Amino acid sequence: MKTPVPDYLQHVLTVCHDNDQGALADYIPELAAVDPNKFALALTTVDGTIYSTGDDETEFTMQSMSKPFAYALALQHLGIPAVLEKVGVEPSGEAFNQISLDKETNLPKNPMINSGAIITHSLIPVQKGISRAECLRRFLSELAGRQLEFDKQVYKSEVKTAFRNLSIGYMLRTVGVLDSDPVEIVNGYIKQCAIKVTVKDLANICSVLANGGVQAKTGKQLLERDVVRQVLSVMMTCGMYDAAGDWLTTVGIPAKSGVSGGIIGVLPGQVGIVVFSPKIDEHGHSVRGVDIFERLSRDMGLHLMEGTPSAQTILQSRYTAGKNNDIVVYELRGVLQFTESEMLLRILQDEPDAQTRIVIDLTNLTLIHDVGARMLFEGVKRLQANGHKVVVIDSEGVLGEEQVKGNKRVVVTEELERYLEKFS
Ligand code: DON
Repeated sequence: MKTPVPDYLQHVLTVCHDNDQGALADYIPELAAVDPNKFALALTTVDGTIYSTGDDETEFTMQSMSKPFAYALALQHLGIPAVLEKVGVEPSGEAFNQISLDKETNLPKNPMINSGAIITHSLIPVQKGISRAECLRRFLSELAGRQLEFDKQVYKSEVKTAFRNLSIGYMLRTVGVLDSDPVEIVNGYIKQCAIKVTVKDLANICSVLANGGVQAKTGKQLLERDVVRQVLSVMMTCGMYDAAGDWLTTVGIPAKSGVSGGIIGVLPGQVGIVVFSPKIDEHGHSVRGVDIFERLSRDMGLHLMEGTPSAQTILQSRYTAGKNNDIVVYELRGVLQFTESEMLLRILQDEPDAQTRIVIDLTNLTLIHDVGARMLFEGVKRLQANGHKVVVIDSEGVLGEEQVKGNKRVVVTEELERYLEKFS
């Protein structure tokens, strides 16, 4: 059996192929010379699987799709409060290259529009001899799983015509938000925009965001969870500029576009989607890209506001074991967040007070959110207070060190069957 996912993606590409609207971004001369017919689509899952179709080997520059990752680097190194002192998180409702600041704070409204992205570029930590753009290139290469390069032609071409971005740089310097040389920062920002990728690279990069900052293939936590949350939130509200409301209602996936014709979208815990088609609309978004995202969101039920209830699945089974049937085993499955924990504790509260042993088996859980762990152990304490002996089986190590803190004695790392053998 062959999975139908590639056929479906190919079908979507074919259906949207005839949409010929939009125009190449001609304010960057080199972008006006690309082949307008290129068309590629990639989809990634949280476990790092990638499906791609069309011109999936064609390289193009990231342009504004680099902005969320520069923001992520700044957040990771400086922390959210320090970055918020330099750039806000409010949608601007204006074009991406608007020369404007927030009237009250005098800061750029958000890191997705150019003014916010230029200041964000200045916040990327520089190491000796390594420029900010190079630092971002290395970071994106790690996320992509291969060495990415700069497109020098596109960089030079944009630098020559960067009058608007230079105006923004000087404005930021004038009001004192930027405290370094505006020309150096704007040039660095333009270089960051010139990092070359394919849709497959972007899919690898997005898969890390979709997976809470963890790169599935290496198991490395490349981005902190709170950084991922901040980045995706800003992508949702500001990533599509002055079309953000339209995008949220019709597509409902945190996203970012680039004038090279790419759009990336990340649905937390589910998928990353990448489209490339160079003709863009008046907002700077790929026309066929928007078309594809609308279609995928509709067909695959990906709209963020269409969350399906997951709590029905937390209890896989409840049974008794042991010589005298005095062990009650609760096998959990899925993800333990607030809703699922509430359901579990509600079920556990029906357990009659007694000297019974209660075993809570986490083996089939895929993730325990912090609130899930806190509620679980609070439940354990209350069961103990009612006279139960309680153990939590964590043979797969789904609980993190922090989550176990203070509850080590309750957690058993051997397999459920082994544990139960002792009582049979
Ligand atoms: O700063 C610029 O104008 C470009 N380097 C990037 C703009 C961009 O991609 C806007 N997004 N769609």
